[in-house]
Amino acid sequence: MCGIIGVTGAADALDILLDGLERLEYRGYDSAGIALIDNQEIYRVRVADGTHSVATLRSSTANAPSVASTGIGHTRWATHGKPNEGNAHPHVDCAGHLALIHNGIIENYQELATTLVGQGHTIISATDTEVLAHLIEECLKSAATLPEAVRAALTMVRGAFAIGVIELSDPELIVAARKISPLIVGISGDASFLASDIPALLERTRDLMVIEDDQIVELRPGSIVVSDLDGKVVTPKPLHVMWDVEAAQKDGFDDFMTKEINEQPRVIADTLRGRITDQGAIILDQLNLSDDVLRSITNVTIVACGSSYHSGLVAKLAIERAARVAVEVDIASEYRYRDPVVSATTLVIGISQSGETIDTLQALRKAKALGGHVVVVSNVVDSSMAREADGVLYTRAGPEISVASTKAVVAQMVVLELFALHFATLRGTMTPDNVAQEISDLVGLEDAVATTLARDPAVAAVAKELIDARDFFFLGRHAGFPTALEGALKLKEISYLHAEGYAGGELKHGPLAVIEPGCIVVAIATGGEMREKILSNVSEVKARGATVVMLAEDGDSNAASLADYLLLVPATSPIVSPIKDIVPLQQLAYHLAVARGLDVDRPRNLAKTVTVE
Ligand code: M6R
Repeated sequence: MCGIIGVTGAADALDILLDGLERLEYRGYDSAGIALIDNQEIYRVRVADGTHSVATLRSSTANAPSVASTGIGHTRWATHGKPNEGNAHPHVDCAGHLALIHNGIIENYQELATTLVGQGHTIISATDTEVLAHLIEECLKSAATLPEAVRAALTMVRGAFAIGVIELSDPELIVAARKISPLIVGISGDASFLASDIPALLERTRDLMVIEDDQIVELRPGSIVVSDLDGKVVTPKPLHVMWDVEAAQKDGFDDFMTKEINEQPRVIADTLRGRITDQGAIILDQLNLSDDVLRSITNVTIVACGSSYHSGLVAKLAIERAARVAVEVDIASEYRYRDPVVSATTLVIGISQSGETIDTLQALRKAKALGGHVVVVSNVVDSSMAREADGVLYTRAGPEISVASTKAVVAQMVVLELFALHFATLRGTMTPDNVAQEISDLVGLEDAVATTLARDPAVAAVAKELIDARDFFFLGRHAGFPTALEGALKLKEISYLHAEGYAGGELKHGPLAVIEPGCIVVAIATGGEMREKILSNVSEVKARGATVVMLAEDGDSNAASLADYLLLVPATSPIVSPIKDIVPLQQLAYHLAVARGLDVDRPRNLAKTVTVE
């Protein structure tokens, strides 16, 4: 998740880039940079200053060439390589004649890098992006023009990208291209613009054009030509934008939480991107634990807080089932103060969106001091936890702004399921066919979640019926239990309603006493052998007057017949079901909070990252 912008034909090119980058900071803010073409040279400035990166870039470019009218800019949310100046964009080729910005993930960057180094290129950064600059430089040796070279280079690239390229031999030209990652362009007077997102360009023009996959764009002052990979000129789709900047930053959604909920199909795809080879092998390149170490592991402990803890409970089921290793999951604030048993064959996994939560950080420090192998699941590259751990599994959710975690949790579950399959493969506890089947179940989640999201109006209608309810019990068993906990946490944190998650089997051990008319029971009755038992629990609570919201899979008429209200999700393998089942529960919490007139992005008393005890 990075923000890109480019402009040609503008006397105030630098200001346009800096203003645009300010408006793109919500997409990423660990570093920022610009490159301008000035008098047969590329003037490039990059800074890595966290949330101050664009402001620092502004002060660092105070002496930029004032006549430059062509340039590109980038604000970064790292996926490959630390967030430092050397990894910040724009990247340049060996000769320093070409500069490039990129949003996306290049899957085959390592194999491209090996070939390019063999051809004499020197690759300096740790990013997946820099190879593109060298690849285009290489293609320019045989191509007559920059667009031709970009077109040739992109036939060798696998992954997702939106790029902008400038080159000295044609100083008023920017070549852009798109595959999967968003790209828009526009013209105002003599100036032509490109950007990853609408907010970057709104001050300059509201009339934009949307670039589609596999299209290449040539931007010159006052002119934009779009063509396909074969060079055939195409007419891009026009887009007139009425939104203000704030609405545009939220992608037209009312708030960041809805935007982030709706990003989940993309997040699933990005988190898997480049981690499964064409032959079906799993690559977790920053795990940093040798195959021998992983084979020697005798027990796993997962530590985390809040929603990340719930991802840990899902991961426990996956790892125990797939790799046949015992897993305990502990709340980090408990773990750090107890006397845990850790040995040289213990793997401790910390899960944290931010990578900064103090309890999880301290729990991991303790585990490391006791001699365990420490791996972190983090959404922030080079976070404190990522720096201190032996290895990292990065989620690729992009910045999560809403306090209530949604897309980051889904990404955590996805990467941990993948880890479980990798672990199982090494330990020989699953057949290659079963691993392949479960990889395909994971890949299929992108569509299942997209289908679920499209059913939002049905969830909103249920929320409307429940507006006067005050007590919610979420019941689930097996994989549905963490889903129940997470559904209850989402509801309580943004709607301030009383909500509890329970394992269905615990009902008769206490909670049943408080069930009476007026209580809402949300039953997670999706796939798996525990579904019938949950339906029995549902009969028990209905007999005591509770109103039941049933979360069931399409076509489950038994579950539907017991429901007062029904939330339907597509059927998937039970193994991955929490990853899609949580989505309608996020939507339910959201609609109840909105109906109660609450600020869903900034719930009272809560902070996004808890860095104090
Ligand atoms: O950044 P982390 O994942 O370590 O944060 C952990 C919790 O603070 C976080 O999940 C919190 O529970 C969220 N607000 C839940 O939506």
